[in-house]
Amino acid sequence: MTIVRAHDYNDMSRKVANIISAQIILKPNCVLGLATGSTPIGAYQQLVEWYKKGDLDFSQVSSYNLDEYRGLAGDHPQSYRYFMDTNLFDHVNIDKSKTFVPDGMAEDYEAACAAYDAAVAAAGYPDLQLLGIGNNGHIGFNEPDDHFSRGTHLVDLTESTIEANSRLFDSIDEVPRQAFSMGVQTIMNAKMILVAANGEKKAQAVHDMCFGPITPSCPASILQLHTNTVLVADEEALSKCG
Ligand code: F6R
Repeated sequence: MTIVRAHDYNDMSRKVANIISAQIILKPNCVLGLATGSTPIGAYQQLVEWYKKGDLDFSQVSSYNLDEYRGLAGDHPQSYRYFMDTNLFDHVNIDKSKTFVPDGMAEDYEAACAAYDAAVAAAGYPDLQLLGIGNNGHIGFNEPDDHFSRGTHLVDLTESTIEANSRLFDSIDEVPRQAFSMGVQTIMNAKMILVAANGEKKAQAVHDMCFGPITPSCPASILQLHTNTVLVADEEALSKCG
C-alpha cells in the first residue's frame, strides 16, 4: 500500500483530485468507482474547478457508485444519487446515462443487486475506485462482520454508522437503517484503489486498515491484499500510524 501524507483536508482533496484527473487524462474513457460522504467533497470541488478551466474532459468517463440508502429515491436530497449529481455530475460534462448508483427503491432488490454487479463486471470493473473509510473500518457500506462480502447486497447499517451519518439528516430517526452496497470482492476487482481519509476520528480505522490483521472485523484491512492501493490521508488520520 502506498501512503501519501497530506497536511490537512485541502491538501488531501487536491492530491486525491490530482490522482483522479491523471486517471482521466491517461484513459479518457475510464471507469471510475465513486464514493459519497464528507471526505470526497473537496476533491470533487477541485475536479469541477479543473473541468471549468478546461483541463479535464469527462465526456467519455463512466462511473459506478459504491452504495445507496434503501428507501430513498434519486431525487431525495439525502440520497447518494442526489449527492453525486449536486457535488459532481451536474457541474462537469459527464454523460449522466453512463453514471450508475444502486437503485434505493428497487422492489426486487436481489435482481437489482445482481444486475448492478453484472453491469460493473461488463464494464471491466473500475480503473480507479475511490473510497472513504468509516470510523469502524467500513468500506462502501460493508460493515464489520465475520466474513467478507462478495457482490452488491442489502446491508443492515450499524448503530455507529447510523449515528455518524445522522449529521446529514434533520434527526437520527430519519437515517435509513438499510442500504445497498457493492461487495468487498467487487471493490477488490478495481485496478487501482484510492482511499481518502481525514480527521482524528479515522485514525484507528486507518491504522487497522494499513497495519492491523486482515479481518472482516475491519473490512478495509483487506485492501492490504490489493496490489495497487493508495491511501491519501491527513496528519490527524495518520496519527496512530507512527
Ligand atoms: C460512501 C461510503 C462510505 C463512506 C464512509 C466515510 O459512499 O461508501 O463508506 O466513504 O462512511 O464517510 P465520510 O466521508 O462521510 O466520513
